[in-house]
Amino acid sequence: MKTNVLFCMIFIFCSLQYFTVVVHSLEYDVGDTKGWVVPQPNASNIYNEWASKKRFQIDDSIRFKYGKDSVMVVSDTDYKACNSTQPIFFSNNGNTIFKLDRSGYFYFISGVSGHCERGQKMIIKVLAVEETSPSGDGNTPSSSGAASISCSSIVPMVLFVVARSAGLL
Ligand SMILES: *[C@@H]1O[C@H](CO)[C@@H](O)[C@H](O)[C@H]1NC(C)=O
Ligand SMILES: *[C@@H]1O[C@H](CO)[C@@H](O)[C@H](O)[C@H]1NC(C)=O
Repeated sequence: MKTNVLFCMIFIFCSLQYFTVVVHSLEYDVGDTKGWVVPQPNASNIYNEWASKKRFQIDDSIRFKYGKDSVMVVSDTDYKACNSTQPIFFSNNGNTIFKLDRSGYFYFISGVSGHCERGQKMIIKVLAVEETSPSGDGNTPSSSGAASISCSSIVPMVLFVVARSAGLL
């Protein structure tokens, strides 16, 4: 009878682990309620302060909400220089969802002349996979595979303990 309870617990444990791995991509609103705007002169670092409080993971998304403005992804050199002549990514539709599809740094600036210089820019660091799951190699299917492997290695162990305490071994 106790074995049933145990199987039930193992099942729940494994389902929870699967759940946390699969539902880990999040969407963040850049600047929270303020959106993507030119910062006040006394708060020109607001976007990097906002970003530094988050732990971005691969496949998370960030949403920029703005009026007559734009979002660009640029190189680190162009970020430092506020140079908007060679964007890697550009959008000006007012509601830009950008997927963080790899680990490392993303450099965002406003493409409107003078806005980046006034602090409408942001560096996002996306954590490497190693920092979240030790055995995954990038995408979600392989991460959840890793979770089920660790679960299936726990099951025989638990069965052994149960069998022993039941006097079968
Ligand atoms: C910046 O100045 C504005 C008004 O000019 C004020 O409302 C705001 O509280 C100030 N922010 C900080 C962080 O000092
Ligand atoms: C921006 O980058 C381009 C290409 O590297 C360069 O030709 C241009 O001079 C740069 N502009 C500024 C303002 O730094």
